[in-house]
Amino acid sequence: MNKRQIVITEDGSSTLELIGMDEHFHSMHGAIQESKHIFIQNGLQQKAKEKSTIRIFEMGFGTGLNAVLSLLFAKENDLQIDYFSIEAYPLELELVQKLNFTEQLDLSKEQTNSFQKLHLCAWNLPTEIQACFFLEKRNVKLEELILESDSFDLVYFDAFNPDLQPELWTEEIFRKIYLAMTSGGILMTYSAKGKVKRAFKAAGFVLNALPGPPGKREITQAIKI
Ligand SMILES: C[S@@+](CC[C@H](N)C(=O)[O-])C[C@H]1O[C@@H](n2cnc3c(N)ncnc32)[C@H](O)[C@@H]1O
Repeated sequence: MNKRQIVITEDGSSTLELIGMDEHFHSMHGAIQESKHIFIQNGLQQKAKEKSTIRIFEMGFGTGLNAVLSLLFAKENDLQIDYFSIEAYPLELELVQKLNFTEQLDLSKEQTNSFQKLHLCAWNLPTEIQACFFLEKRNVKLEELILESDSFDLVYFDAFNPDLQPELWTEEIFRKIYLAMTSGGILMTYSAKGKVKRAFKAAGFVLNALPGPPGKREITQAIKI
């Protein structure tokens, strides 16, 4: 799980490959394109129509791409974001430094500093990255995580493929997340597999099948009614 190497996706942005496992942190059709489409446009942008203070839970901090895109969106749209992200296998800084998001997103000096701070800040301690964005990243496995109930307005469920980690895509895990979400909360994920959708429904979610980014026909938006 922690033998990883940098690869470049079709939109020019970098991602990581799990060596020998044919698994990537993002779509090979475009890492930035995928994250923006699934998590920002169909998740954060939708929630921001209702609220300006938003609590996000991310499963899988990884490269910090979803986090930095959320921070940029918060700044542009006058939002206040409280971002809680978990990661079982934190990246080595040497790999983080090889990611090309700062160039691909054309980040200013201040934004680049914020991206670095997302990675350099301490684990298991809430940290102000910018006034509009607080991060707590926790070094824990999803299976062992205990979540407060009624806490999160938005969830980025960004685990590896259900074929690789079926234990993370179960009704039991989804139920734990459902209970941690506020009513009207939105969960976004890239998977639209039948088995995954059945587990979401069994956990109580109502599902919307949405068009995916290039290379993916469908993605899943799960709502806590
Ligand atoms: C698809 S990648 C996430 C990509 C990430 N959101 C990003 O923008 O780079 C899945 C992430 O989940 C982490 N992970 C794998 N198993 C886990 C577990 N049991 N609990 C928590 N994190 C896990 C991996 O190390 C990896 O960083």
